[in-house]
Amino acid sequence: MSSARTTHQVRDQVRPAAAEWWRQAVVYQIYPRSFADSDGNGLGDLRGVISRIPYLAELGIDAVWLSPFYPSALADGGYDVDDYRDVDPRLGTLADFDEMTTRLHAQRIRVIVDIVPNHTSSRHAWFREALAAPKGSPARSRYIFRDGLGPDGSQPPSDWVSLFGGPAWARVPDGQWYLHLFAPEQPDLNWDNREVRDEFLATLRFWSDRGVDGFRVDVAHGLAKNLAEPLEPIAGIKNHIDGALPPGSHPLWDRNEVHDIYAEWRRVFNEYDPPRAAVAEAWVHPSRRPRYASPDGLGQAFNFELLEANWSAGEFLRVITDNLSDAQRQGSSTTWVLSNHDVVRHATRYGLPTGDRRDHQTARQWLLSGGTSPRLDRGLGLRRARAAILLMLALPGSAYLYQGEELGLHEVHDIPSELVQDPAYARSRGADKGRDGCRVPLPWTADGPSFGFGAGPAHLPQPAWFGPLSVQAQERDPASTLSLYRDALRWRRTLQTAESMEWMPGTNGQVLHFARPGGWRCVTNFGPGPVPLPHGTVILTSVPFEGSAHSRQLPADTTAWLRPGQNG
Ligand code: NOJ
Repeated sequence: MSSARTTHQVRDQVRPAAAEWWRQAVVYQIYPRSFADSDGNGLGDLRGVISRIPYLAELGIDAVWLSPFYPSALADGGYDVDDYRDVDPRLGTLADFDEMTTRLHAQRIRVIVDIVPNHTSSRHAWFREALAAPKGSPARSRYIFRDGLGPDGSQPPSDWVSLFGGPAWARVPDGQWYLHLFAPEQPDLNWDNREVRDEFLATLRFWSDRGVDGFRVDVAHGLAKNLAEPLEPIAGIKNHIDGALPPGSHPLWDRNEVHDIYAEWRRVFNEYDPPRAAVAEAWVHPSRRPRYASPDGLGQAFNFELLEANWSAGEFLRVITDNLSDAQRQGSSTTWVLSNHDVVRHATRYGLPTGDRRDHQTARQWLLSGGTSPRLDRGLGLRRARAAILLMLALPGSAYLYQGEELGLHEVHDIPSELVQDPAYARSRGADKGRDGCRVPLPWTADGPSFGFGAGPAHLPQPAWFGPLSVQAQERDPASTLSLYRDALRWRRTLQTAESMEWMPGTNGQVLHFARPGGWRCVTNFGPGPVPLPHGTVILTSVPFEGSAHSRQLPADTTAWLRPGQNG
């Protein structure tokens, strides 16, 4: 690897205009049902979020993104929405939402909500209407209903499969089938239907009028489908991401027509001042991401490549370089994510031995083994997680944090099977342990019935090791992971300048070293042994390394932030 001195000058913009607040924002993801429970029913709620606004303000974030809080039977953790313009009564009311937004805004924290446009829940008024209506009715045409194959129509209409396992079609009593690319409780909407489009435009206005600053768009690459008869088979197609198919030609994912939908959304976003922001959850080939992030579309798109990268200087270098170049081309800012509610927490991923699999795949294997194989080195995982977050927070672009990572939480691996909530577990017949392990309610206090999450037991069981990792246990410890996040976010506000960076000499197969304008530098040693620390004043390190400051050695699996000045 070369010590490339490539400069990524994405945008020379020291103070983003209010309209572009999101470009280098730190966004904290709240999974509301697991954040804080104000009424003791075991589920987190909006008043719980309100009660923790001082915590969020102290953390130093710019925005929160709330995963769905809408009425839902929780067939998929709330991503099965019964009503897009209301709050689940177990989580509060619209008045609570308004109060939460006002109070967050008072702390200069913006609010992003999750929009789930690919599918409704099967309890949504439209789907109930569709079930009660006859074949071929307008009510059915809001969804994707088809007759089955075979003489009696008992075979699904196509070979399409659900992402949670099994066929993507379910049969209704009159013999027709409907499409669900996720759980059967999540029927896919038909985005060729004008009524569907108008309904979502109205929903975007509904939340924008309530002061919401932006939207995270669920499965943004799935809305447009090729529904021409006969339905196109997917047998033989590996996926739409590996680049083997002509771009945009998969019948279900990442079709070009999807951008017509987002062009309409953009017109709605731009009716507001500042324009509402949006970020696409689009699992697409990197070359296709700029379309989602275009200023005429959603404006920003997640890149999950850092989350999928192994703990390796080479992989991080490639991901960072490629994504900054992409952002430059697309006129957007890039996004960085290490954890979210869908993946094994990164402290755990980094604590498992890198074998011939990707770390995130090894982690799923580890979950399946009940947390026994391969052996997890918790200390190493946390040490690397702390190094990774300092690296990530020094990069230009937006940083998305997932609740609990600031506590250094590991994945919970021992949720008893009868308590597992994720549909992926049952639908895969246990071959996939699902995502509950990163959705376990947060520990706020070192003890108590649910470690301060609520007055009673939490909706997913918390392990005993949560106590020492609680907010209470870490708050006053300057060496804790929570303190590291707080310090890093405070420094980032001071140091963050133009949206650019430059690789510095010393970048090689073990070390990444880069500079931001104004002299802020970040150096990460991916191991295995110590390396010389570049010159400059040490501002912050991912783990304390007394003595090394004098010997000017950066230990393995450690990041340091530096600025010009005397060594030391
Ligand atoms: C992506 C969400 O992040 C995930 O949690 C959900 O299961 C699927 N979309 C389906 O909505």
